[in-house]
Amino acid sequence: MSLPLMANHPTLSARRVDGLLDWAQMLSGVCLIGFMWAHMILVASVNIGPDVMNAIAEFFESTRMVQVGGPLIFLLFLAHFLLAARKIPFRLEGQKTIWEHAKMLHHTDTWLWVVQAVSAMIILVMGAIHMWVVLSDLPITAAKSAARVQSGAWVFFYMALLPLAELHVGIGLYRIAVKWGFVQRSGRKGLKRGENLLTLIFLLIGALTLIRFWFLKG
Ligand code: HEM
Repeated sequence: MSLPLMANHPTLSARRVDGLLDWAQMLSGVCLIGFMWAHMILVASVNIGPDVMNAIAEFFESTRMVQVGGPLIFLLFLAHFLLAARKIPFRLEGQKTIWEHAKMLHHTDTWLWVVQAVSAMIILVMGAIHMWVVLSDLPITAAKSAARVQSGAWVFFYMALLPLAELHVGIGLYRIAVKWGFVQRSGRKGLKRGENLLTLIFLLIGALTLIRFWFLKG
């Protein structure tokens, strides 16, 4: 008799584990946001000059940060997805319910969650391909990156990955601040505005970097 009830009410330890996993999801997200900001700025050093980007890449490779840190970032990226995937409905039935609720609620934050879940799945595949291609072709140099951006469909690949990653980072930071109570309800509007501005700045930096790679001669 009590079985259905128990299924709807997780035990205390199950709730504790869920809380811990929520923390891990948030912390891995914060680390990845920090990584993405650093990554965008470091790669953008090519705008100052290819030699500057080469010197930075050399530093990170001579200290083994790329060879060791790169795969670690990949694992963190994977762990973050698996932690978040607990809440993504992979069955059609669940997806329909979320879609109906989002339409019914007219609530921006519910829509942001939908954007976050959809972009996550695309970034998972594209980010993994990107990391594999870059890390399996070391050392990183401006000339090699430029040649890649100018070859095949890579420029379109980055033109898709850039806005998806920046959107995901921007919404992620906003959701962390709201969910973990770093901002009150009254501060949400200002936070959203600040977040949008930050996303726009990183989009501009990324676009400028892609243009620089496109015109860079080998
Ligand atoms: C260890 C991890 C990573 C390394 C070493 C790395 C390195 C690089 C390098 C060298 C470039 C220049 C273009 C090229 O060589 O093809 C680049 C570009 C780019 N990367 Fe990464 N990357 C890493 C992870 C990521 C992740 C996780 C994302 C997003 C999910 C990402 C998004 C991008 C984007 C959008 C560009 C295009 C350039 C721009 O718009 O600034 N990267 N990355």
